[in-house]
Amino acid sequence: MKKGGAVGMAPQDAATVGQVKAELEDVGKAAGRAVAVAAAPAMSPLSETLWREKAAVEFLGDLSARLAWRDLTVTVALGSGETQTVLEALTGYAEPGTITALMGPSGSGKSTLLDALAGRLAANAFLSGTVLLNGRKANLSFGAAAYVTQDDNLIGTLTVRETISYSARLRLPDNMPMEEKRALVEGTIVEMGLQDCADTVIGNWHMRGVSGGEKRRVSIALEILMRPRLLFLDEPTSGLDSASAFFVTQTLRGLARDGRTVIASIHQPSSEVFELFDRLFLLSGGKTVYFGQASEACEFFAQAGFPCPPLRNPSDHFLRCINADFDKVKATLKGSMKMRFEKPDDPLERTTTSEAIRRLFSYYQRSQYYYVARQKVDEMARVKGTILDAGGSQASFGMQAFTLMKRSFVNMSRDFGYYWLRLVIYIVVTICIGSIYLNVGTKYSSILARGACASFIFGFVTFMSIGGFPSFVEDMKVYTTKSNTALQRSSSD
Ligand SMILES: Nc1ncnc2c1ncn2[C@@H]1O[C@H](COP(=O)(O)OP(=O)(O)O)[C@@H](O)[C@H]1O
Ligand SMILES: [Mg+2]
Repeated sequence: MKKGGAVGMAPQDAATVGQVKAELEDVGKAAGRAVAVAAAPAMSPLSETLWREKAAVEFLGDLSARLAWRDLTVTVALGSGETQTVLEALTGYAEPGTITALMGPSGSGKSTLLDALAGRLAANAFLSGTVLLNGRKANLSFGAAAYVTQDDNLIGTLTVRETISYSARLRLPDNMPMEEKRALVEGTIVEMGLQDCADTVIGNWHMRGVSGGEKRRVSIALEILMRPRLLFLDEPTSGLDSASAFFVTQTLRGLARDGRTVIASIHQPSSEVFELFDRLFLLSGGKTVYFGQASEACEFFAQAGFPCPPLRNPSDHFLRCINADFDKVKATLKGSMKMRFEKPDDPLERTTTSEAIRRLFSYYQRSQYYYVARQKVDEMARVKGTILDAGGSQASFGMQAFTLMKRSFVNMSRDFGYYWLRLVIYIVVTICIGSIYLNVGTKYSSILARGACASFIFGFVTFMSIGGFPSFVEDMKVYTTKSNTALQRSSSD
């Protein structure tokens, strides 16, 4: 079987998918083991590339990631010696092929839940309860997962294609031919819908670059390059307009449909975006308000006594019900003329939000949604699946050092303030010094003048080199994001 033969073909090429599957099945049969791939949700040829080699060596298992968490509680130690419970007894699951949205007012613990599931909690946070990946206890650094953080830390002077291909060279195995890497990069660009801006620079303080939505998609593209089976995203749509948010979410849905497990925290989705979610995890103050099918959430709220009024976006309604800050806003507005818009038929106007949250909590604990979720988690805990371990960067130290040097050179040579501005300053200063010390002579008294000239030049060069520090800080930002993101760093890098 030709390694990576299907790379770069259109993901929708159904015939190729079929062929790859048939090939994979052959390998599985040759190994005399059960093949679970046929039962797994369809993966694009692109998705299979990186996993095929591993699968051929060991056994061809189901490469999907089933994540379940039970009674997950996170407590953080505050500076004053007190502790705060950020998450309380959360139970839920995420299945391959689906996209799970975490929603809740800000401060409700969405990021903390993502961190807890991805095993990247802060040092002062303590986790209790179980997190199971494919029925096995996931240790803190399980592979095959990717985490897209809330802010984009990208190098502004590189184009979209360069950013992705440098990342590919930094992480893909050395023995993978260059054309295959290139095909994988191109495939990722197509998958994330970045063809139109592939040769545009990302942009920084003095260069106009790609739009916010495109930047977001580049960040996601960098993470899916290694074909993770499990994808965590912290507020991928925050700060985007509704069309870009819809595009990003639609792409995530495409990734999920490819057999991946996607979990994303979302802040105030529009109704179009909300309709793309399969499952919804609603949090308020670290407790579960609702976990179940996104499409059934409206019914749940109606049963609990808070039906969604007609002509209101359902997700807005859910957040309105569970955001305790509305109580404070109402108290502030009370008595002022702003209260004129009060609608007596709205159940939320008759009770306080904290009362509504209490009722929703207790209703959920008694509902069939909670029962079904627990049943499903128990079932998932019983089925032991494949251990997914992508094992971090597979590029050698030499390759990484070479790529980083090249990237740094390209970055600095394009940044006007880095080399070019300095070159101009150096030339001007050289001309000045040269003309001052022109024909200084060869007498005893000129020794002093030569010494002064040398110390001036040394001093100047030293101070100018400190000017490179801000650039270094930028690079450090990219580095820390990447090293936190790469949950599964091998010890060699
Ligand atoms: N490491 C930590 N130390 C102290 N407090 C924390 C820590 N992590 C989270 N918190 C607190 O937990 C709450 C939830 O935070 P977060 O998960 O970031 O909320 P969200 O992402 O939903 O806005 C906040 O009140 C925050 O102050
Ligand atoms: Mg957050």
